[in-house]
Amino acid sequence: MEKFLLYFLVVCLLIQLVHSYEYLKETFNSKYLVIGVIGFLTLWYSYRLLIKPLDIQRKLADVGYKQYFTQKQWASKDKLHLIRSMMSLRKKGALPPVYPNGWFALLDSDQINIQQVKYVTAMGENFAVFRSSNGNINILDAYCPHLGANMAIGGVVRGNNLQCPFHGWKFDGTDGKCVNKIQQNDCPDDTILTKTSVKKWESFEANGFIFVWYHSENEKPSWYPPRDEMISNWTYRGRSEHYVNAHVQDIPENGADVAHLSVLHGDMALGGQYAAQANTSLWNILGNHKWKAEWKADKDQWHLSKLKLEHKLKVFKNFVIFQMNVTADQIGPGLVILNFKTSFGPMKLVQTVTPVEPLIQKVVHRVYCPIYLSLYASILLFMESVMFERDVVIWNHKKYIEKPLASKQESTLLAHRKWYKQFYSANSPTFSFRKETIDW
Ligand SMILES: *[C@@H]1O[C@H](CO)[C@@H](O)[C@H](O)[C@H]1NC(C)=O
Ligand SMILES: *[C@@H]1O[C@H](CO)[C@@H](O)[C@H](O)[C@H]1NC(C)=O
Ligand SMILES: *[C@@H]1O[C@H](CO)[C@@H](O)[C@H](O)[C@H]1NC(C)=O
Ligand code: FES
Ligand SMILES: [Fe+2]
Repeated sequence: MEKFLLYFLVVCLLIQLVHSYEYLKETFNSKYLVIGVIGFLTLWYSYRLLIKPLDIQRKLADVGYKQYFTQKQWASKDKLHLIRSMMSLRKKGALPPVYPNGWFALLDSDQINIQQVKYVTAMGENFAVFRSSNGNINILDAYCPHLGANMAIGGVVRGNNLQCPFHGWKFDGTDGKCVNKIQQNDCPDDTILTKTSVKKWESFEANGFIFVWYHSENEKPSWYPPRDEMISNWTYRGRSEHYVNAHVQDIPENGADVAHLSVLHGDMALGGQYAAQANTSLWNILGNHKWKAEWKADKDQWHLSKLKLEHKLKVFKNFVIFQMNVTADQIGPGLVILNFKTSFGPMKLVQTVTPVEPLIQKVVHRVYCPIYLSLYASILLFMESVMFERDVVIWNHKKYIEKPLASKQESTLLAHRKWYKQFYSANSPTFSFRKETIDW
């Protein structure tokens, strides 16, 4: 569809060019060429804005590092090395455990097709995520218990089973048991095979994401993410993906940090990702963002909390041109559903946070809205992404302060920390523990 539209536009442009050329030869009038080019660009950008969902991707080096290096350093091949060394010199503080217990997104639902297997690492684990021929998602440990091959690299999905690429052992996606005895008899010792199994990880697919249940005490899921009906009814309008150099807790904690809103997110989003630059940006002549926030833990369900945000875009000091009220439902340690009620209509953003390494988080936002808000939802996702990047600049370099110099405002932040603590348990991996096993 996308390609077809592009070819169609190119052909239109060529016809236009030929016409223009003949016309040019006679009259030296390039009017039609200009109209053609403008027409093409208009169509192209309309297509990008109105039809194609946004896809914003930011890697670790993309946000909050550039300004600390000279241009020459930044242009060199050493860029990542420089960042890594900056990371290792950074003070970390007395960090909480690095992998909380709960549901974590491994992939977007549309990133894995039927009978496809994908290799994903997160929380220090190695997963083979595959979609069976009936469409169900299964997650097994990636390493084959026979001789250790990674079954997600070159393995084949057969029905509901994952077949190892090395010697062909097959594992049932629903329980992880080796099933070769039932399906093929050419293995030398069937009794070994039937006793063999690979770790099966609990999985759950909802709201455009595939989640895995991670628990340091190996407990079964005590709750599940909700399936949001509006999300499945509305149009998907785009996603953003950020890799952030921070502790997993820093990201949800931001919602309870009421005091930072006006300082970091007050200046116009159009001013960009660096708050200092945004503060002196010309866009601020137009106006600024006003925020009011309130965070509360849920009284009945321990894994839920709610942030209520009131946002106003004020222009020329007093004139409110745009308003929105947001309720952000935090569901466990790694999922937030943001419900927007804006001046133009409703929409929803789903945010997932997944610890890829002890101090590297993958954060994905997906936006959904009624079809008439399509353009607006893309713009909102872009703005949200800029605001998020202002936080990323801070997160990438901060250290953890266990006891913040608490003023009255910080009491919400401390309440949030107390609430979030429930996701850690006795055997939750800590940063120093990881340090011994991973060379930073
Ligand atoms: C979503 O769509 C289904 C089918 O069209 C409909 O039955 C359901 O009521 C809708 N849900 C909401 C919350 O509007
Ligand atoms: C810069 O930020 C301060 C508060 O942090 C604010 O008072 C000031 O108006 C901002 N400057 C501009 C140009 O917006
Ligand atoms: C947001 O909430 C405020 C107060 O609760 C209300 O006055 C306002 O109309 C709401 N705005 C929208 C867009 O829903
Ligand atoms: S390593 Fe998987 S079958 Fe041998
Ligand atoms: Fe923030």
